[in-house]
Amino acid sequence: MNKRSIIIDTDPGIDDALAIAIALFNEELDVKLITTVAGNVGLNKVTYNTLCLLKYFGKENIPVAMGADRPLIREYEDASSVHGKSGMEGFDFEKPTQTAIKENAVDAMRSAIMESEEPITLVPIAPLTNIALLLKTYPEVKNNIKEIVLMGGSASRGNKGVMSEYNIGVDPEAAHIVFHSGVKLTMVGLDVGLKALVLPEDSEHIKGMNKTGKMAYCLFKKYRGGSFNTGLKMYDSTAIAYLLKPELFEAVETYLDVELHGSMTHGCTLVDLKGYLGKANNATVCLDINGDEFRKWFVDAIEKCI
Ligand code: RIB
Ligand code: CA
Repeated sequence: MNKRSIIIDTDPGIDDALAIAIALFNEELDVKLITTVAGNVGLNKVTYNTLCLLKYFGKENIPVAMGADRPLIREYEDASSVHGKSGMEGFDFEKPTQTAIKENAVDAMRSAIMESEEPITLVPIAPLTNIALLLKTYPEVKNNIKEIVLMGGSASRGNKGVMSEYNIGVDPEAAHIVFHSGVKLTMVGLDVGLKALVLPEDSEHIKGMNKTGKMAYCLFKKYRGGSFNTGLKMYDSTAIAYLLKPELFEAVETYLDVELHGSMTHGCTLVDLKGYLGKANNATVCLDINGDEFRKWFVDAIEKCI
């Protein structure tokens, strides 16, 4: 089978951890590189967490490159209230022996993309700072990027601000660069993330399934992205699910932009479904997901892990 080569840009982050696990063990995906960016917690912590995950999964052959430790312009804001101070509260990982490579994330992504025989899919599941820097510093990479499938944004309300989703809201200027880059783009936002729930029965089911299920259960007990008893939001796994099972989603071609100047609305994504702005479509935006089918997919995906 021809695998899809991907680069994951991440800020683990409990939901990131599950998305990474699913990607690492799915036979349709080839994770070429993981890059880290300040997001849920600081750059050093998200990098350490990424290395812990690769050690836990026996995948220390996958290079990890560190990226931006802050947004392009705005002050950095973490999400430790959701993921805990460490960023992956609830599970004691063995100390990693692997270290991040010397190349920074932007240079590492450029090398991986330009050296790839086939176009690479970028899967940002964190603030878009690294991706924006890549596209601005090395625009030639656009010729060998298949598409960008990102977790972020919202066609409706926010989870960071009234109208802003965290990944976009932390660095809206970076998002603006990515949205206007001309690269094929799919936004997998809160409109599906809020419905991509792991219910208590799912957590109990995966708990004894394997190493990954055991880790997930422990992390879920501390994860504040929703509630253990009424449903935990697997935001980042929806980006992986879109790659592997797009039929779970309802998506439309539309014009996507991000507000940069509103004193109360900066960071909100504008999904112009009715064409009010008169601009050409520049993105596919996911507007709905089959929640029951996502839950089945998620549990099956964990079963494919170790
Ligand atoms: O809004 C959800 C996103 O913000 C997810 O990527 C989560 O990990 C946090 O980074
Ligand atoms: Ca994330």
